[in-house]
Amino acid sequence: MKIQYHETTNDLQTRIDIHSKYGTRNIDEWMLDLLQPAAQSVILDVACGSGKQCFSFYNYLHGEASITGGDVNPDLLAQAREANQKIGSPMQFIDLNFNEPFALETGKYDLASCCFAIYYSENIPLTIHEMHRVLKPGGRLFTSGPMPANKQLFYDIIREATGKTIPPMPGSSRYSTEIYSEIARTFSKVEAHIFENPPAFESVEPFIAYTRASLSEDRKLWNSFFQTKDDFERIMKQIEQVAEKKLAEQGHLTMTKVVGGFVATK
Ligand SMILES: C[S@@+](CC[C@H](N)C(=O)[O-])C[C@H]1O[C@@H](n2cnc3c(N)ncnc32)[C@H](O)[C@@H]1O
Repeated sequence: MKIQYHETTNDLQTRIDIHSKYGTRNIDEWMLDLLQPAAQSVILDVACGSGKQCFSFYNYLHGEASITGGDVNPDLLAQAREANQKIGSPMQFIDLNFNEPFALETGKYDLASCCFAIYYSENIPLTIHEMHRVLKPGGRLFTSGPMPANKQLFYDIIREATGKTIPPMPGSSRYSTEIYSEIARTFSKVEAHIFENPPAFESVEPFIAYTRASLSEDRKLWNSFFQTKDDFERIMKQIEQVAEKKLAEQGHLTMTKVVGGFVATK
């Protein structure tokens, strides 16, 4: 499966900021609560982006850990390295393409994480096999991703605004099925946990900012909806009108946020 994906630094940051501003729960605290990584852990964060989870592990363990983040996007890695330099930590941020065997030692890590990214893999069995390979015996994998009910309002509004069928999203269409099954096949044990954190918007602006960032970041997936900048702006206008109508009816726009956290043991 060829996944068309390119996360831009601005789109990713916009969505992270909106979730932290309008959601009431902190997803990294939930992850840390589930995992409770021990001091001196050797941790690999696959598809680390600008380092969000690496910094969470680092803060939780007060720096007493060996943490490596890997990503394919050089801009996001540059952001992670810059933030890392500011705090003077020895964390490492490396080039890592999870569609290929990792240039990393077998059996080295206590914990591998891959947050909101594994479904972009073009070869799920290979990516999961590589994360399994680099773990120590008894080491754990943590993945997070959208469950089927995720972002219902977002899709409902786009469907009503455009009259079109929503294209299959690589995340919600595969995460709880194909990806969960592959993890269960590869690891000796896997547990699924659910995190719910519906962001509630009292005006359309943050909803529209979120929608713009999501559509533009995954624009290849939405190419049956828009091709040019003009198409994009026209669709955004239609979406805004439907969002205004729903806001007037309901008094708020609340988007379900249903995330699955899979914790697997080697
Ligand atoms: C939604 S972002 C999540 C980033 C980070 N884990 C977070 O939660 O903030 C998805 C990430 O997957 C990365 N990614 C996509 N394809 C990849 C690949 N083939 N190898 C490694 N990383 C990839 C992107 O560059 C991006 O950083």
